[in-house]
Amino acid sequence: MNTYIEDNKQRFLDELVEFLKIPSVSADPKFDADMQKAASWVMSKLADAGMDKAEICETAGHPVVYAEKIVDESLPTILVYGHYDVQPADPYELWDSPPFDPVIKKTKIHPDGAIFARGACDDKGQIYMHVKAIEMMIAQNALTCNVKVMFEGEEEVGSENLETFIKENKERLKADIILISDTSIIANDIPSVETGLRGLSYMEVEVTGPNRDLHSGVYGGAVANPANVLAKMIASLHDENGKVTVKGFYDKVIDLSVEEREALESAPFDEEEYKRDLDIAEVTGESGYTTRERAAIRPTLDVNGMWSGYIGEGSKTVLPSKANAKISMRLVPDQDWKEISDLFDAHFKAIAPPSVKVKVSRHHGGQPYVTPTDSIGYKAAFNAMEEAFGQTPVPTRGGGSIPIVALFEEVLGLKSILFGFGLDSDALHSPNENYGLFNFYKGIEAIPLFYKHYSALSK
Ligand code: BES
Ligand code: MN
Ligand code: MN
Repeated sequence: MNTYIEDNKQRFLDELVEFLKIPSVSADPKFDADMQKAASWVMSKLADAGMDKAEICETAGHPVVYAEKIVDESLPTILVYGHYDVQPADPYELWDSPPFDPVIKKTKIHPDGAIFARGACDDKGQIYMHVKAIEMMIAQNALTCNVKVMFEGEEEVGSENLETFIKENKERLKADIILISDTSIIANDIPSVETGLRGLSYMEVEVTGPNRDLHSGVYGGAVANPANVLAKMIASLHDENGKVTVKGFYDKVIDLSVEEREALESAPFDEEEYKRDLDIAEVTGESGYTTRERAAIRPTLDVNGMWSGYIGEGSKTVLPSKANAKISMRLVPDQDWKEISDLFDAHFKAIAPPSVKVKVSRHHGGQPYVTPTDSIGYKAAFNAMEEAFGQTPVPTRGGGSIPIVALFEEVLGLKSILFGFGLDSDALHSPNENYGLFNFYKGIEAIPLFYKHYSALSK
């Protein structure tokens, strides 16, 4: 490990603790002041690290933090992207320690300790690795590339205002490559570099039966119950082979070649351990695909929330007037999220029986993304991982989504490198989110190596 990291280990961690104490929840207006506070906090750390410029850029929503250091116009420029917003911490009672009061504990997966807090891995812990790596490179006079930093505060709510921001700041954001640490590696002894992300289409449906809630004894059996109807409609969205039945859903899906599938499958994976970890008796999904393929290279449809009727204490005999669900679809190349949203809309209305009315509305979405593995950006990431871990990394495809990544390519003409250090088991978006200290320091060590390899390969 670089002696700079050794010498500043505790300070780096103390600072991360301070950062994680700010509840930067983008979804809930109750935390708006904390969003500002988190933005200012990380902006001042970028300034302290020695960036030439570090500023808060207001948007129609939460601010963007921007900083840059131009060492030499003739060197390649890396644009670092990440997000300082976090998912809501609810339900609080399921956390072993308060989500915004970080604690460090040793775990089976993280024997050197992990920091437990909302945002520890997704993405505050990972963006802070960049702040510290930049500080180190500047302090050691070892910055081999120009660097621009853009941290947004709305990734977890769809990045709508960042789209406007990048469209309005094309000149300022000029770079050669985008570097993002917001994904996972396979395991701490199996480094990997993700070659793609799934897209997303997020919908909401409302099924209305009678014009008011009814006595389920007086009317039950004679009037369509929207909760029953919705359950049936949702059940019909998959066939017996686990395929999504939305008309046209698979039309644009690009199948991977046998070689590509074999390469992805060559990465170690223990299905028994996977089931044990989740406490499930069996895995399910689209037939003809493995668990890992189902969760990365195949599109999906899932209910994310569902509500209707009486859900309070005890019982109430009621035939509800309405039933609702939030449904998300993960997409793969070349599915188009707006097109898929249209297909879903049409399909869902078409399968509704005449006894109910159906409303379909759209939330955010984003296109799927792939990184070419023969690009110098990917190679630099691969080499940096290899050097930092002392082990050859495995190319993988991530199942999650970072919708703005496809827009970076569309608007800025830039490819993104997914240089994440989390583990899928770090409980992102769940209670007890955590990030291994090993991963935090390994990231700080690997980031300068990316700069080194990227500038060498650019020559
Ligand atoms: N960092 C995640 C995405 C991720 C996690 C990618 C792990 C690969 C591996 C990101 O913050 C996220 O949660 N994205 C959302 C999408 C967004 C529109 C809410 C997602 O994937 O659900
Ligand atoms: Mn994230
Ligand atoms: Mn997230």
